[in-house]
Amino acid sequence: MSEDPSRVGVIVVAAGAGERLGRGIPKALVQCAGRTLLEHALHGVLTSAVAAHVTVVVPRGDSQLRSIVAAQTHPQVTMTAVDGGSNRPESVRAGLNALPPDIDIVLVHDAARALTPPHVFRAVAACVRKGSAAVVPGIPVSDTIKVVEGDTVTSTPERALLRAVQTPQGFNAATLRTAHADPSAAASATDDAMLVEMLGIPVTLAQGDPLAFKVTTPLDLTLAEAILQAPQYAKEQQ
Ligand code: CTP
Ligand code: MG
Repeated sequence: MSEDPSRVGVIVVAAGAGERLGRGIPKALVQCAGRTLLEHALHGVLTSAVAAHVTVVVPRGDSQLRSIVAAQTHPQVTMTAVDGGSNRPESVRAGLNALPPDIDIVLVHDAARALTPPHVFRAVAACVRKGSAAVVPGIPVSDTIKVVEGDTVTSTPERALLRAVQTPQGFNAATLRTAHADPSAAASATDDAMLVEMLGIPVTLAQGDPLAFKVTTPLDLTLAEAILQAPQYAKEQQ
């Protein structure tokens, strides 16, 4: 597959309510060091230059995130905004329906992973281009993870075998459409790769980045603000 961005689309899911952040507004609209989380996320997508089509999935009835999308000017990229659904898989499906039908590769990205560096988008897209049907960026975990039932620990998976998985996740477009074909099966999925795994299709791991962490709680937002104000951060964003 060529490196032609015209055959690549990115879905940025930004239709969540941000309940755990607790600001009473959609998380993608929350300001972080002078810009909204959506603007930070789109900066990473556009700087990576992997895709000619970007669709941002916004909460139904929202006008502010739509205005942010409309204000983005990039000569080589078509940007659209569409209404999301009541869970993340529904929002991804809405984004998929809004992308041109003839694209080969789709990257699905959480707006909440607002500081994801451009090199992660490039690595994921390159891996799909090389032939992987599904690609997830991941990093080693530093905590020991326990499996529990209630308050009883039932097992301890070997840490060296675990990866914390991030977005953007990249897919052969036909594979992602098949994975999302059954809305009721997809409803409980916490990421898109999981739906591909359920089809029995192998998922490939690519190099993630600690900066691709998800802004979920107020503590994460404080971390994101501190990173954006740190002098060494600028060189990561290339
Ligand atoms: N998302 C979405 N549509 C939904 C739910 C989530 O587009 N119905 C998006 C969010 O906007 C976010 C990403 O999926 O970019 C990951 O979800 P999460 O971190 O859970 O964000 P929220 O759902 O907004 O947060 P919370 O669960 O705390 O309400
Ligand atoms: Mg959520």
